[in-house]
Amino acid sequence: MATEKTLNDLFLDTLKDIYYAERQIVKTLPKMAKAASSAELKAGFEKHLEETEGHVERLEQIFELLDKPARGKTCDAILGIIEEGKSIMDEFKGTAALDAGLVSAAQAVEHYEIARYGTLKTWAQQLGLSEAVTLLDATLQEEVATDKKLSQVAMANVNLKAA
Ligand SMILES: [Fe+2]
Ligand SMILES: [Fe+2]
Repeated sequence: MATEKTLNDLFLDTLKDIYYAERQIVKTLPKMAKAASSAELKAGFEKHLEETEGHVERLEQIFELLDKPARGKTCDAILGIIEEGKSIMDEFKGTAALDAGLVSAAQAVEHYEIARYGTLKTWAQQLGLSEAVTLLDATLQEEVATDKKLSQVAMANVNLKAA
């Protein structure tokens, strides 16, 4: 029989997944900010880079609460999403549609994060990890706000320019 695994193990595994993902996002956001032509979108990416650095720190605090080393686990999902974003940057470079493409790539990242943080928060509640719940929720709220902001930027100008 396979070794018994618990929700604790799943929580730790998923924490490592999102820790890896967040650190990849820290590396990617400056490239997206550089590529964006709209000043508003550029500023949005720069602001979210700062927030994302905070997300990495919050995760490190949770590893500490669990008395585990902060370690990432390769997340193929985020690598795929980032790769798609890179293709858009290459293929639409210098075109009016580039910013719309950047917004769509960024929203795919945010939705991945929202899915992960939503799950982790629920599990932390079930495991009685109340400090972790607070930290996960703080990040989740910033991801949701970022996603909304991206939708607003897209509606306000990016999509109009691309049309
Ligand atoms: Fe994040
Ligand atoms: Fe994010």
